[in-house]
Amino acid sequence: MIEAPIKTSSGGTDVFYGKEGPTEKQRIFRDAHHKYKLFGGGVGGGKTYALCAEGLRLSMMFPGNRGFLGRHEAEAFRKTTLVTLLNLIADMEQETGQRIIAHNGHNQTKKEIVLVNGSAIIYGGLGGREDMDRIKSLEIGFFCVDEASETVHEVINMLKARLRWKLPGGQYPRFFGLFASNPEPGWLKNTFVVPQQQGVPLDDHLFVQSLLKDNPWLPPEYLANLRRDNPESWVRRYIDGSWDAVEGQVWPDFDFQTHVLPNDECPVEIPYPIKGTHTVLGSLDHGQTNPTCFLGMYIDQDENILVYDEYYKKGLVSDHVLNIEEQFDLSSMEELVADPSIWDKNREKDGMEWSVADEYDERGIYLTKANNSREAGWNRVGEYFRPDKDHFHPFMEKKGSPRIFISKRCRNLLTEIPEYIWKKTSDTSANPKEEARKLNDHACDALRYGVMTRSSPYEQKRNDDAPVGSFNWIIKQRGNGIKKGRLVNR
Ligand SMILES: Nc1ncnc2c1ncn2[C@@H]1O[C@H](COP(=O)(O)OP(=O)(O)OP(=O)(O)O)[C@@H](O)[C@H]1O
Ligand SMILES: [Mg+2]
Repeated sequence: MIEAPIKTSSGGTDVFYGKEGPTEKQRIFRDAHHKYKLFGGGVGGGKTYALCAEGLRLSMMFPGNRGFLGRHEAEAFRKTTLVTLLNLIADMEQETGQRIIAHNGHNQTKKEIVLVNGSAIIYGGLGGREDMDRIKSLEIGFFCVDEASETVHEVINMLKARLRWKLPGGQYPRFFGLFASNPEPGWLKNTFVVPQQQGVPLDDHLFVQSLLKDNPWLPPEYLANLRRDNPESWVRRYIDGSWDAVEGQVWPDFDFQTHVLPNDECPVEIPYPIKGTHTVLGSLDHGQTNPTCFLGMYIDQDENILVYDEYYKKGLVSDHVLNIEEQFDLSSMEELVADPSIWDKNREKDGMEWSVADEYDERGIYLTKANNSREAGWNRVGEYFRPDKDHFHPFMEKKGSPRIFISKRCRNLLTEIPEYIWKKTSDTSANPKEEARKLNDHACDALRYGVMTRSSPYEQKRNDDAPVGSFNWIIKQRGNGIKKGRLVNR
């Protein structure tokens, strides 16, 4: 059933990827057995090329297979993805000396390419009404969607439901749904990227990040020019491949690979605080109908803030209290801060005016009013997120560290932060008042209350004010030539 892979004339490795074979990232994408695979990243990472190569491989591996290759907009598909596919086929035919497309096998009206082994690649757009009708009646063994974040999720679900093609011999091919995309918010990010970033990928789903720097087949100055000629948020998204670089973010310095632990560079889990060693804080954002968020954070001796756990749930105060007490050691917390508005006496109990804070108090959670100056809070959190060239990382021997780190356990906080963006303002004055968009910001608010209990890291000359025993204090004592040890856990 499965034909031997085609060899290059030189006996090379993988003719589906041209003379030179796949890049390292393309190889990872190719070899993973997951049914649904996303090859994503910045521009020019070799995504379209890999998608076409894999479509061709599945067609050649399973004679009589049928696959769909498409992109949201039919015209964009014809000008980009289809060109790559036809070029790849031409290269393969030249390299192997074999025909790949059957005689008269490319029917542009039917948008179908029939290969010599009887497999067919059906191609085209995914965004039009007639595209949808076409998909609805397909039976396929695989599909490949380029720039998949453009395509609506319903259409993708429809494609998934069409994966039931039977090969001429009566067997099923191995079914695959392959996607390529630049980093964009939406269903694709939420299906592949966020769960993988949070260490809980969906079953049979894999995201492989490929960046321009992973693709050696572009001119050397191309990368440098793109970096030079484009705005910072564009560079972060399309060159550095950040799926979290949304335009207008309140905290644009936030980066999964920097602020979230563990990450690829620093595999350290943020440890739970040690009573008596760390200053531990709790911060609460109470939601009446929205979820309530409680964050646990502590301050190490270098004034880094380590957010180690979160509670995030809808419900009654009584439930929150039970859950929070179970999840956190409140007795180790020096202060529990909360949104001052919960002290408003807008409830009634036994004929008395009553507040949400009273309810927490009655159940044994004694809160204090947070500083709810929003502009100052947004700014302060931003300062802690900002990498400082002189600041040492709490877990690695390197400078250039930010001052706040968030554990992967805090899933809701980590989902909210990249999506926390400034509201578009209609104020056209020179200094329009900035406002964060009110969406899911419960965990972001709790973060702000907690961080506002600390002073600005830039207000003080840190080395002068460094607490005794902190790394900056050690540097001051011994000069700059010493190595950094692990400070938080010692
Ligand atoms: N394995 C490979 N061997 C040779 N050339 C390659 C290979 N992979 C990619 N390329 C070349 O690198 C360039 C970029 O590849 P491709 O168009 O697939 O990137 P992309 O990630 O889809 O880019 P975009 O973000 O612009 O859609 C193309 O010129 C392509 O031919
Ligand atoms: Mg492409």
